[in-house]
Amino acid sequence: MYFFLLFFLFIFLGISIIAAILMLSLLVGLVQTRGVPFISTAAKDFDKILSVMQLKAGDKLYDLGCGKAHFLIYAASKCDICGVGYELSFWPYLWARFNVWISGAKVKIYLKNFLTADLSDADMVFCYLFPEAMVKLEDKFQQELKIGAMVVSNSFPLPQLKPAKTLDKILVYRF
Ligand SMILES: C[S@@+](CC[C@H](N)C(=O)[O-])C[C@H]1O[C@@H](n2cnc3c(N)ncnc32)[C@H](O)[C@@H]1O
Repeated sequence: MYFFLLFFLFIFLGISIIAAILMLSLLVGLVQTRGVPFISTAAKDFDKILSVMQLKAGDKLYDLGCGKAHFLIYAASKCDICGVGYELSFWPYLWARFNVWISGAKVKIYLKNFLTADLSDADMVFCYLFPEAMVKLEDKFQQELKIGAMVVSNSFPLPQLKPAKTLDKILVYRF
């Protein structure tokens, strides 16, 4: 009897500790990313985004805040590009690494703040972030991106620059 009680107590404690760690790490992720939540671009929009990107084989595509890396993996499978994803939150990063491993896609994922990443060899940058992050990125894009590089943003505009093209909520910038 006591054995069963102890057994269930241990199970209950174990589950509670795991749940607490998960909640805490999600909270830490949200603080680190200054509130940019972990919401994925809808899969139904992937082809629309690729149609404005016009990627060529061998192009380098960066996803800044790549989440689970679903878009990068899809793009790599359709267009034979090299994908690079930066993700600051631990669980989405781990999930992205797992997804890339399962898919075998030509995609690299880094647990890193994209504001400290070097974007100088990017042909294409994709982002789905928040207005505050777009303010910081605008300067970075202007300083680092090579001539001819493009930025495609889901939903959120760069504050100063005028998009070269807009398709529904997809904004396209040329540098
Ligand atoms: C709205 S989700 C978009 C995910 C993915 N790009 C997509 O479109 O499906 C934004 C992601 O950016 C990450 N993020 C926010 N700020 C970041 C930063 N400074 N460096 C790296 N990742 C960041 C968040 O953790 C979150 O997973």
